[in-house]
Amino acid sequence: MADSLNLPDSKLPHVGTTIFTEMSALAAQFGALNLSQGFPDFDPPEALRQAVVDAMNAGKNQYAPMAGDWDLRSWIAEDTERRTKRDYDVDSEITVGAGASSLLFAAIQAWVHPGDEVIALAPAYDLYQPAVQLAGGSLVVVPLRGADYHLDLEAIASEITASTRMIILNVPNNPTGSGWSYEDFDALHILLANTDILLLSDEVYGPLQHDGRKALSLSSHPALSQRALVAASFGKVLHATGWKIGYLLGPAELMKEVRKVHQYDVFSTGAPLQAGIASFLKSQDGQHHLAALPAFYQSKRDQLLHGLKGSRWNWTPAESGYFQVLDYSGFDDRSDREVVHEWCRKGAENGVALIPLSPFYPNGIPEGHPTHRVRVCFAKNEATLDEGIRRLLLLSNPS
Ligand SMILES: Cc1ncc(COP(=O)(O)O)c(C=O)c1O
Repeated sequence: MADSLNLPDSKLPHVGTTIFTEMSALAAQFGALNLSQGFPDFDPPEALRQAVVDAMNAGKNQYAPMAGDWDLRSWIAEDTERRTKRDYDVDSEITVGAGASSLLFAAIQAWVHPGDEVIALAPAYDLYQPAVQLAGGSLVVVPLRGADYHLDLEAIASEITASTRMIILNVPNNPTGSGWSYEDFDALHILLANTDILLLSDEVYGPLQHDGRKALSLSSHPALSQRALVAASFGKVLHATGWKIGYLLGPAELMKEVRKVHQYDVFSTGAPLQAGIASFLKSQDGQHHLAALPAFYQSKRDQLLHGLKGSRWNWTPAESGYFQVLDYSGFDDRSDREVVHEWCRKGAENGVALIPLSPFYPNGIPEGHPTHRVRVCFAKNEATLDEGIRRLLLLSNPS
């Protein structure tokens, strides 16, 4: 670097590499089995891959419209109406972006002003804190309640001030898989009734429900959806996280401002991917894929938990999503960061990469909340899960 270059302070001095990148890199370095970062080790459906190739061959290779491929947005509108009864306008209330991430980020930049407070519930996905900080706001962290991480409306109420601009929800929650009930939405509605607080609902794991639970979207609450931007991800539901295609729903007056950011940071994304996804989802193959998704992931969760039965691992079965939180306090009392590093270093034969839960608490895990927990990604094929179970059992019973 040139001697004379005098760089200003970092805008994000406390941000390092995400824990997901860190653990995946460590897994690669030591050859450990990677059950850390949230991506499947199997491919998207063949018919979907073919639809994308067909879209490329049909010339869908230039910029998609800024708001997203028209066919894809019209499928999203129909699907959302079917699931939630909420009718979003295809022109002005649906935007497709580079994964849910780009739109969550754009929504925060568009609506959070310097000095604003934004409430997020912890464990919290790591994107929220730096996005709020870059917008000049501050994140107020409210922990989810109890050993199974449920909503604590009283705790949220106690953190609301005149400066609260937004509450970020993540339902179902990453990493815990815990969800909400419609009664929770009603209670939130009463809490916010005389405020102008906006909601940003990160619902990327919404369709992945276990044990017959019904996916619950904030879009389905007529009153709350008036103040809500709702994010979803095709990466999660189509086993295609690397394609980075997601979308945002919201009332036109909220979406208009989000698009002002989106059109300059992303503008538009993956035209043939969007067109291929639209064509797949409109086909019978696509409909079957979505209908089979809950049972598909539930069987993976069950394979994992069945394999660990009777061991010194403890858990509450994940209600949704493709992560399972495991409690290792029955056999190790070291910190979660310490154990995941050591378990990864066991290498190619017995090593396993997991995600510690403490990084999901931007201010640390508060007194009285669960510690000694790690996240396992079970979006893996049967053989990988069997091998993961073998290694997890070895950790809990080393002799
Ligand atoms: C809670 C949560 N929100 C958002 C995202 C990002 O989704 P996408 O890959 O569509 O950007 C993820 C990805 O892991 C996530 O876990």
